[in-house]
Amino acid sequence: DVAPLIDPFARPITYLRVSVTDRCDFRCTYCMAEHMQFLPKAELLTLEELERLCGAFVDLGVRKLRVTGGEPLVRRNIMSFFRAMSARLGRGLDELTLTTNGSQLARLAPELADCGVRRVNVSLDTLDPDKFAAVTRWGRLPQVLDGIAAARAAGLRIKINAVALKGFNDNELFRLVDWCAAEGHDLTFIEVMPMGDMGEEARLDQYWPLRDLRARLEERLTLVPLAERTGGPARYVRVEETGARIGFITPLTHNFCESCNRVRVTCTGELFMCLGQEDRADLRAPLRASADDAPLRETIVAAIARKPKGHDFDYSRGVAGQMSRHMSHTGG
Ligand code: GTP
Ligand code: 5AD
Ligand code: SF4
Repeated sequence: DVAPLIDPFARPITYLRVSVTDRCDFRCTYCMAEHMQFLPKAELLTLEELERLCGAFVDLGVRKLRVTGGEPLVRRNIMSFFRAMSARLGRGLDELTLTTNGSQLARLAPELADCGVRRVNVSLDTLDPDKFAAVTRWGRLPQVLDGIAAARAAGLRIKINAVALKGFNDNELFRLVDWCAAEGHDLTFIEVMPMGDMGEEARLDQYWPLRDLRARLEERLTLVPLAERTGGPARYVRVEETGARIGFITPLTHNFCESCNRVRVTCTGELFMCLGQEDRADLRAPLRASADDAPLRETIVAAIARKPKGHDFDYSRGVAGQMSRHMSHTGG
């Protein structure tokens, strides 16, 4: 067996997040500008290159692959990529999964399940159709709810991701919690991170620390902390009254970097060792320079050797200029 990737802080890197496109059919206000400039197609890795690249990570010990974007399911022929990666399941890869806005799930859920995908994370910040249209700018709630229903019908487990936004979904907290409990979905709240270049002052106003959100939940519900992790950054509780599971992703109030196990690759083949740092390694060049994977693997190993300790997002320093890169570029 190959030596696993170990970073300078003795953290084994076993989780790769790969963004397969920077495009999206929505324009969530906290994620993208309304008139987002997308990359020219020639800059993107081909699906065959993405397969080779992800395969190299699996050869180096990655066991969990999460496909992201942008919206991964709007990439043309993306199912051929899932099909190819599914061949690695049980052969190095333990989990093949994705984070999606749900818009294409009604069409693609059965095929995803057939490729060995067992669960999907669906971004859904509100259950109010008008608010949904406002936050996604271009999205329609019924389309996403249909997608979620189709995914469940296909046997996929569902985790709803809700970015916690003060003045936006704080008045819907229990509606989201009750709906997920009734539908049997896991639910994870996320602290909004200072990324992208739009509305940064508005973002500070919208920032809702999850310790406050959690205190609100505890006024009505009994939350029992769970030790189990999914390999991602969420910390989970079980709601005693309903049995439902709720997760908290708290990059700001409770940094989880000490247990980081992941790196991310952009759709152009840049390897980012941390979501909240600018250091990166170009994997496209070694990928294109040689049909042999050895130079690619060497570049990956060298980059992991300089993975930073953690991000330094911090709203107390103000928001402007913290991170101009968009979430859709690195896939969150
Ligand atoms: P599972 O635990 O496998 O369900 O995945 P996940 O929660 O890691 O993945 P998901 O794509 O649903 O991400 C949820 C949120 O966590 C997104 O807002 C991501 O940007 C954020 N996130 C994931 N990994 C990191 C990380 O390493 N650092 C930070 N700061 N945020 C992360
Ligand atoms: N802060 C926190 N989460 C974000 N997401 C997108 N942009 C941000 C941000 N600035 C979330 C999406 C999706 C996940 C991949 O990242 O809602 O659920
Ligand atoms: Fe698209 Fe997801 Fe960004 Fe919304 S958060 S614009 S759905 S990539």
